Amino acid sequence: MNTTASPATVFDIQRIRADFPLLSRTVHGKPLVYFDNANTSQKPLPVIEAMNEHYREHNANVSRAVHQLGEEATAAYEGARDKLARFINAPSRNELVLTSGTTQATNLVAYSYALPRLQPGDAILTTVMEHHANIVPWQLVAQRSGATVKAAPIDQRGELILEQYVAMLTPEVKLACVTQVSNVLGTVNPVREIARECRKRGIALLVDGSQAVPHRPVDVQALGCDFYALTGHKMLGPTGTGALWARREHLDAMPPFFGGGEMIREVRFDGTSFAEAPHKFEAGTPNIAGFVGLSAAIDYYQSVGFEAIHAWEQQLLAYATERLREIPGLRIIGEAAEKEPVISFLIDGTQATDLATLLDLQGVAVRSGHHCAHPLMQFFGVPSTLRASLAFYNTREEVDAFIVALLKVRKLLM
Ligand code: ALA
Repeated sequence: MNTTASPATVFDIQRIRADFPLLSRTVHGKPLVYFDNANTSQKPLPVIEAMNEHYREHNANVSRAVHQLGEEATAAYEGARDKLARFINAPSRNELVLTSGTTQATNLVAYSYALPRLQPGDAILTTVMEHHANIVPWQLVAQRSGATVKAAPIDQRGELILEQYVAMLTPEVKLACVTQVSNVLGTVNPVREIARECRKRGIALLVDGSQAVPHRPVDVQALGCDFYALTGHKMLGPTGTGALWARREHLDAMPPFFGGGEMIREVRFDGTSFAEAPHKFEAGTPNIAGFVGLSAAIDYYQSVGFEAIHAWEQQLLAYATERLREIPGLRIIGEAAEKEPVISFLIDGTQATDLATLLDLQGVAVRSGHHCAHPLMQFFGVPSTLRASLAFYNTREEVDAFIVALLKVRKLLM
């Protein structure tokens, strides 16, 4: 497969599905329909095998050993950094801090970038549609510094009101934040425009890319942001992997957050000096096998190609949306003009959690609840939603099976 040929000619869904062993299992005696991809994706064989091979053949700690295995493990771990840097078009591999995920990345920015700069009266700007990982770290450092956290509004379609976001970029804002894609609504935000407005005002912008990287090619230079946080387990990689990309000048100015081995130049009781970025932010033994797996995940995306992935996912999104709209009393939450394949909804007279529990008995895995986005639930005036989140390995037949199951469980609850 390549990225240039027409998706219709190259996208062999059955071949792709054969690479994901878990997709062929049954749940409660029914074929699995896995529509909880925004929560975590399934893993293809090359990822599973790469991690297996790492532990069977190459396992050692990184950077601490001169022996052959240590060199192999270090090469694999640092190779993952190279690959991830190219994947998001970072200008330099040294601007990529490998983390356990987005949460560690946003907390690193909160404590190492924001906290030292925040004075009483300052503010951090985020939005109403954020995941808690792009809200709570800012609240924690705001509480310590006397700053506040402001949230830019969205409209009833679930789109960010850009003019209001821009109007809220006032001089006291020391950091602006936004998700590239909403985990609940699927909304794709106008990150380039936001970055342009932030730059005009000298405000650093952090983008949460967790829900974007599984679906679209990301180019941090083209986006024009200052920080980009991502997580590996939503993009075919293992749990416990992720990264923070940050402009070099920010990384150089930021003090370390975690202290320990691997992040120092020299340790003395009269003054310790630190390694250069990114290593000064990577204390302790990292998730080496995890990054080996993430490296294989990136290769997998590239072998399928984002052009084909995007075309297929958008077809699935349109089809699933159309089929859901046929269900009486069903209300979709999040109808932005540009979406990734995430559909949140409610059905009159039912509770999302009851629906999700009964759907599970039909073999359908969806997420119900607040999706770690309480302020968004408060905005829509609902305690929870049911969310179907799709990936490129899903099919129209699975959408059909999901609709049949949903009609069945709706009937049971009404
Ligand atoms: N795991 C979170 C979700 O399901 C981010 O959306």
